[in-house]
This record gives sequence, structure tokens and C-alpha cells, in this order.
Amino acid sequence: MPNSQQAPLKIAVAGLGTVGAGVLKLLEVQADLIEQRCGRRIEVVAVSARSKGKDRGVDLSKLRWYDDPVAMAADGGADLVVELIGGSEGPARDTVATAIETGKHVVTANKALLAVHGTEIARKAESRGLAVAFEAAVAGGIPIIKGLREGLAANRVTEVHGILNGTCNYILTEMRNTGRDFAEVLADAQALGYAEADPSFDVDGVDAAHKLAILASVAFGTPVDFSAVHIEGIRQVSAVDFDYADQLGFRIKLLGIARRTEAGIEQRVHPCMVPKSAPIASVDGVFNAVVAQADFADRVLFVGRGAGAGPTASAVVADLIDVARGRSTPTFGVPADRLGALASSPMESRRGAYYVRLMVVDRPGVIADIAAAMRDQNVSMEQFLQRGRSPGEAVPVVLTTHDTEEAAMQKALATIAARDSVLEPPRMIRIEQF
Ligand SMILES: NC(=O)c1ccc[n+]([C@@H]2O[C@H](COP(=O)([O-])OP(=O)(O)OC[C@H]3O[C@@H](n4cnc5c(N)ncnc54)[C@H](OP(=O)(O)O)[C@@H]3O)[C@@H](O)[C@H]2O)c1
Repeated sequence: MPNSQQAPLKIAVAGLGTVGAGVLKLLEVQADLIEQRCGRRIEVVAVSARSKGKDRGVDLSKLRWYDDPVAMAADGGADLVVELIGGSEGPARDTVATAIETGKHVVTANKALLAVHGTEIARKAESRGLAVAFEAAVAGGIPIIKGLREGLAANRVTEVHGILNGTCNYILTEMRNTGRDFAEVLADAQALGYAEADPSFDVDGVDAAHKLAILASVAFGTPVDFSAVHIEGIRQVSAVDFDYADQLGFRIKLLGIARRTEAGIEQRVHPCMVPKSAPIASVDGVFNAVVAQADFADRVLFVGRGAGAGPTASAVVADLIDVARGRSTPTFGVPADRLGALASSPMESRRGAYYVRLMVVDRPGVIADIAAAMRDQNVSMEQFLQRGRSPGEAVPVVLTTHDTEEAAMQKALATIAARDSVLEPPRMIRIEQF
């Protein structure tokens, strides 16, 4: 039981942007509740950011200021360093490394850092008996790390999949609702602050892939392996695909999927068509969702806000409360030196159905050629849609397949793309039947 006489947990916060300022505010507003829950106060003793003069809406006057977060991490006076700078290298990585080397616990929201260096960081921290906690790094306010690592600790998890990037989900939702194209909706999202000025990490799937690599490690007890994630973003999804998806009974989502298969661990991020009836299909806008398939608990769904000052601060402070209470688990659920690497299953062996959209010249024999290219790779077609006829002109043709292997599908698409009657590169979206 917590002892109310315990000294405060002293923390130093590196990074005072959206999340850092949010954490300071939450700690102030909820100070009494937090003390009640952990039996001690959580006291911010030092902070670091780039610009000392910036108004962050929080009073920093009583806190020690450091221009250099690494110097702050090295100094005595704090029990724990909160890293909220971001990035897999540079000051964020050095701050975390220095905190651990000097015997301090670490709480971070930095998925890029953990996706690339997570296993090494966990090993170093655990060898010194220190905690590295990162609830905020995946799906912001959703307690998915604790959900998997603690809530489902008695299960063998065979799959986690989810909507892991709110910016992409917002863009796809807007495209569906308004019929507008990607570029236009992205510009709006940037104006509204839902997308960064440089949106590539989000829209190209990298951010979701960072989170997926972390989730896979926690779910399967494997070392974090970002390099094994197959990544495709949403730039190629076109407004017209939403109409066809609707007609076929699907919604389009950017999903991260990690699955334990006989061939090894599959990790992939790409646009998917999911049946409208799948719970994840109705998670719209900036919301995130994660589904875990566990052998005893069965299917578990988590939904919530994946970003923003409040939800992300909530996750960061939950980790601080754990450390303040003295409650700790191995970083990724299994001690870092016992994380067992499993083979990674290549994208070419993905099995499932496919949606394909082609722009072809409307003339005799073209459809037969497409069908032949599929047949030659043993790809069996399920549905075929051609809206209207326009002899001699370009017309869109849409088809879906039965379950087939990615390698066969790619070969068939390459053959189809090479035909002079096919006017644009084929657009393909994988269908996931959850
Ligand atoms: N925003 C979200 O909703 C969200 C959700 C989940 C996870 N995260 C993660 O949380 C972390 C922080 O994100 P954020 O949105 O809060 O970022 P942000 O608003 O850009 O804030 C970054 C902070 O780091 C400071 N900083 C940058 N370089 C520094 C350096 N060399 N030395 C000292 N401080 C430096 C900046 O200082 P100045 O303010 O002086 O420029 C700023 O205060 C990232 O890892 C991000 O991926 C964010």
C-alpha cells in the first residue's frame, strides 16, 4: 500500500510542446487526485525546451530551466526524466540514454525512438532496474500498452490490428463524406491543425508503422523490429475508390496489422477495405482503434483519441503514477533479454482478397486479357464492376478477387499494367475480412 509519508517523485520534463505543456497542466490540475492514488506527490523539478521565452500556458517560474535536455537528464535532483521532444535520434535519444546511464526512470511518448531503438533501450534500463514506460507512444489516450501487457498478460495474442494514425483516419473519413480528393482534404486538415506542415510521416504510413512495431513487440514478446514492417500510405487512395467500396459493402481505412502466422510474424501498414459491419469500420475522424485477438479473452476492441494534449498527457501521467507507486513490469511485457525473435513473414506471402481498379480502353478483348492475366496466376475473381460503356474511350473497371497470395496478385497486376489498353497503373487495395 502507498505510504503517505513517502517523498515526492521528482521529475524532469524534456520538451514542452503539445504533450509536454499538456502534462504540466494535468499534473497541476489533478495533483490531489494523483497524490491520493499513489500516496505521494509527483513534483516537476526541471524542464527543458528550445525557446525559454515561449508562452506555454503554464507557470515555469519555479522550475529549473535547461537549454540542453541531455544536461538536464545528467543532473541530479530528479528520479525520472519525461522525454517529450520526439524523433528517433538526436536530443531525444541522447536524453533517454543519459537518463538511464545516470540511474533515472524514463517515461516517453516517442514512438519513433522506441520503434527503432526500443529493445536496446529496454535492455539497458532493465539491467539497471529502471522503468521505461511509453503508454502515450501508441494510440495516445487509449491504454493499449497496459491493455495488452497487463490486461491480456494471461493470453497468447495472435493478432493486433488497428487505426493507428488519426490524421489519416480523418482524411479518409472526410474523403468518404465529401467526395473530395486526397490533396484537397489534406490541405484542409493542415489548416485545421489535424495534419503537420510536412505530413509525410503520417500520410505515408511511417507513424502508424512505428506504433505497429511497438504493438507487435508487446503482443508477441518479440524484439521491436520496425525494419520488418511493410509500409504503404494513403496518397494513392482516390475519391472514386470510396464509391466502389461503398457499393461493395466496405469502408477504406489505413490499418496497421500484426499477425502471428505459421510463416512468422506479419507486420504491415496499408490502406484496407474492411466490411462495413466490422467494429473498426465505424471508427471515424481523428479517433484511433486497436483490436487484439487473444486465445482466452477472445476479441478485444479499444477505441479513443490517439492524439492531442489531454489524451496524450493522460497516458504519460498514468505511467508516472505507476512509477510513483513502485509498480513495474518489463518494458515490453517480457524481460528484454528474453524477447524471442521470430521469423518475419514477407509481404509476398500475405493471403487475402483484393480490390483492383483499372482505367482501360473500352474495346473488345480487353476484359478477356485482364481475366487471362489473373487466371495465369491462379487468381480467381469474385466480382466485376463496369459502369457504363464508352466504345473506344477510357472507362474504369473494378474487380475483387477471392483469397489469393500477394506474390501471385502482384505478378498478375504487372502483366495487366503492361497492356497498352490499360491507361493508368492499376490501383489495388487489400481486403481484410475481420
Ligand atoms: N502531439 C500529440 O498528440 C502526440 C501524441 C502521441 C505521441 N506524441 C509524441 O510526443 C512527442 C512530443 O510531441 P509534441 O506534439 O508535443 O511535439 P511538439 O509540440 O513539436 O514539441 C516538441 C518539444 O520539444 C522541444 N524541443 C525540440 N528540440 C529540442 C531540443 N533540441 N532541446 C530541447 N527541447 C527541444 C520543443 O521546444 P520549443 O517548444 O521551444 O520549440 C518543444 O517544446 C513526440 O515524440 C510525439 O511523437 C505526440
